[in-house]
Amino acid sequence: MIEQGLRVLAATSAHYDFSLETVEYPWNSQRYIDTGELMPEKELDEFRTLDAIYLGALGDPRVERGLVERSVIMSLRLGLDLYINLRPVVLMAAHLSPLKRAGTDDLDMVVVRENTEDAYVGVGGVLNRGTPREIAIAEMVYTWTGVERAIRYAFDLARVRDKARRVTLVDKSNAIRPQEIWRRVLDHVAADFPDIETDAIYVDAAAMFMVEAPQRFDVMVTSNLFGDILTDLGAVLQGGMGSAASGNIHPGRVSMFEPIHGSAPDIAGQNRASPVGAILAGAMMLDHVQEHRGARAIEQAVKQLLLDHRIPSLDAHSGLSTSAVADLIIDELAVAADTQA
Ligand code: IPM
Ligand code: MG
Repeated sequence: MIEQGLRVLAATSAHYDFSLETVEYPWNSQRYIDTGELMPEKELDEFRTLDAIYLGALGDPRVERGLVERSVIMSLRLGLDLYINLRPVVLMAAHLSPLKRAGTDDLDMVVVRENTEDAYVGVGGVLNRGTPREIAIAEMVYTWTGVERAIRYAFDLARVRDKARRVTLVDKSNAIRPQEIWRRVLDHVAADFPDIETDAIYVDAAAMFMVEAPQRFDVMVTSNLFGDILTDLGAVLQGGMGSAASGNIHPGRVSMFEPIHGSAPDIAGQNRASPVGAILAGAMMLDHVQEHRGARAIEQAVKQLLLDHRIPSLDAHSGLSTSAVADLIIDELAVAADTQA
């Protein structure tokens, strides 16, 4: 995926006249299998000197569950304080959605997933493991600062998007009482944004509305875990897991961009998984470094190819190889750049 994404970025840099310099880091599962080494914490110091990080999916069934993912993804998110996980859910071509009645106007939302707290911080543990008296505890952690910066980002985004100008908070504060902090922070921040409509719903209802009435959403803001779950749903609604991109962002600092899908070990190395999620993550990365023209060009190229059915689907069954999809996008970028010139 990333190899194809880099080809697309190189082509974009040529058309839109910016320089692109890359360094490669090897912290994948194969490296761990070969050497027993995981990404060391000190690597983050070097990452802080970069403009952006482009990350391919990690995870391998030959390695202990979640080990490599946590050592890279969670280290980056927590270590670099990438407190926003930005996940657009956009239906680029209506025929791609499993929703029967959805048109492209019905599914155009962004999920702002809080990215440094919740059940992901590792507070908790296991006692009496493997016995009938085993106790497993995982705590959900929310700080005022962590919640506020996510919610504030969502409001700023609703303003900049200038679509429905609506922020929808998703939580489960009826059953998980401490989550009510999200509601109080929402009210606190909303006072600074009188021009933005706000709304707060429970996560079970959010799952239902995403299927039944997706047009109700503009910017959704939610906790780490709920954001993880709802964005897989979003990915499928827009055409497939292979289509969805994300930015792990600390505004103004080095940030990390990745497709939201996993490493799909069942088809890995067969050159048939869709690179579109990774390529769109590359476009998000360009936005982060202020190369907006290139970002829009990549999105537009993908959209055009989907509308024309030249990329027939966003899964591993499109009949096109991973690299062939990237080739099409690169050609389309060239055509668009020529037309503009
Ligand atoms: C994602 C992934 C990760 C997460 C895993 C790999 C830890 O599912 O980025 O959505 O849960 O955040
Ligand atoms: Mg996920």
